[in-house]
Amino acid sequence: MCGIVGYLGKNNSKKILLEGLKELEYRGYDSAGITILQEKKFQMFKAVGKLTNLIKKSKNFDINGFSVGIGHTRWATHGKPTENNAHPHQGELTHIVHNGIIENYQELKKNLLKKGYKFSSQTDTEVIVHLFEENLKTAQDTFSAFNKTIFQLKGAYALLLIKRDEPNRIYFAKEGSPLIYGKKNDEVFFSSSDTPLIGKVDEVIYFQDGEFGYIQNNEIKIFAENGDEVEPKYSTLPKDKNLAQKNGFRYFMEKEIYEQSQVISDAIMGRVQDKNIFFDEVEKSFFDGIDEIKLCACGTSYHTALASSYLFERISKIRVSVEFGSEFRYREPFLTKNTLFVSISQSGETADTLASLKMAKKHGLKTLAICNVDNSSIVRLSDRAILTRAGIEKGVASTKAFATQMVVLYMLSLYIAQIRNKISQKKLSKELEIIREIPNTLIVTSSLHEKIKRLSKRYLHGHGFFFIGRDIFYPLALEGALKLKEISYLHAEGYPAGEMKHGPIALADPELFTIALLPKNILYEKTKSNIEELGARDSTICVISSENFELADDFIKIKSYDHPILEFFEMMLVVQLLSMEVAIRLENDVDMPRNLAKSVTVE
Ligand code: M6R
Repeated sequence: MCGIVGYLGKNNSKKILLEGLKELEYRGYDSAGITILQEKKFQMFKAVGKLTNLIKKSKNFDINGFSVGIGHTRWATHGKPTENNAHPHQGELTHIVHNGIIENYQELKKNLLKKGYKFSSQTDTEVIVHLFEENLKTAQDTFSAFNKTIFQLKGAYALLLIKRDEPNRIYFAKEGSPLIYGKKNDEVFFSSSDTPLIGKVDEVIYFQDGEFGYIQNNEIKIFAENGDEVEPKYSTLPKDKNLAQKNGFRYFMEKEIYEQSQVISDAIMGRVQDKNIFFDEVEKSFFDGIDEIKLCACGTSYHTALASSYLFERISKIRVSVEFGSEFRYREPFLTKNTLFVSISQSGETADTLASLKMAKKHGLKTLAICNVDNSSIVRLSDRAILTRAGIEKGVASTKAFATQMVVLYMLSLYIAQIRNKISQKKLSKELEIIREIPNTLIVTSSLHEKIKRLSKRYLHGHGFFFIGRDIFYPLALEGALKLKEISYLHAEGYPAGEMKHGPIALADPELFTIALLPKNILYEKTKSNIEELGARDSTICVISSENFELADDFIKIKSYDHPILEFFEMMLVVQLLSMEVAIRLENDVDMPRNLAKSVTVE
């Protein structure tokens, strides 16, 4: 996730762009940049790190009078956070900012390289600017070249482009990433979200997917995907900045739960190809000589590690062990060089995971990071890193970071299976279809959310919760319990459903709440019996399943799927929403629960 802004008008464009980027910093802050075009001259500034660095860097630049400008704050997906990789990207005549991922950039780049174009960054975005300039050579006019360029891009984008000899125009396009336009008197603004526009304009256009066009002076021309001109449709801009940052959601956690469908699409983009899985961050030969994987993480990330260990053994047919960072670092483990050490972390700064990684490196193990933050300590230290592309997660309780880790590890298990010839093309094709289906399982419908909201009032007391499940639904049960306890402060445990009778079932009574994950596609009958055993001892039971369960006290129905991974993701959504609604009813601070921090950088 990145943020973009644009401005055309007679006021101080530098100030307006920088203020806009400040409001968008929550979308990414590993580097930032602006370009201002005045009297056919570009002035570009870029800086790595937070926006303050860019502000310092452009301090001595003053601008007066009419100008056009674009700006970007970056959350790296392709290429490290460096000045070269920071936006805007430039060609001979044009500058561009882009939020999203261009799925076919490698193919486009190959053709452009053959034609002699030089690339100064590792980003997918830079191809757009060169492609546009290539198209300009044969196009009737600039807009036709822009139009042609947009149709050659696959993936997601919100982009703004300015051209040196057209100092009163901004070209724009939107597909899959947000883009908003506002106008007041002679001033024109673009932004990735509402907040930079609040106080500057009263009405905005929220562009639809497939729309593109340009602004000339302050007249807008919008076209739909099929080339037809579209009438501008204005909406009233919200007035409250705080609310706007949360996109109208009550908490960042809620917003992040709702974002999951989108960020999962980002996480799979370019990696799930027609017939295979591809990670351009990790070449196939990296896995040469590896016959064991050690997954290491803390908290929620440990739960994805545990869930994916089932997938690695089942799909990639490789031995796997799972470690808590805090245990691994002190237990004098026996390590062999044929083991791949995989650290999983949202922040990339968790002290125990980092210390474990250092230890693995000291023993000469190959290391791979699965991480959300590029340039974090864990990413920098690892031999290779795969970014999870969840964007900034503000809520302390991890939601979209968990979801994206899980999908990345699922794809990695297939990637390794491909490399080791452990999967048939038929099975792989089926799995690829399933991955493409995942974003749909994560769309929060109002009926599901309302049902959970209503149900939550029955779960505000009791002497404890057991989340139970089997197979990959056991780590999901652990994650459900962690979500509930960290934000509601109610005691909750995750347990393998088949283990309840070895002790915990002694706690069963009406004040013990069991949240049962009952997938149709894995160990259905076995899990059902485990739930019935608890019901027979009078535990209050809430079943989450696509299959009706007569004896449940409460029942949350999910859609019927024919693959457990799809059930996994929808059930994940349900336990996240349930935990959040319970915590909201208990009037807790959902985004900043007591005693916790977003990133645990101390032991
Ligand atoms: O940044 P990390 O993924 O390394 O953080 C590890 C844990 O501290 C973290 O997952 C924590 O458990 C979650 N915020 C809980 O929701």
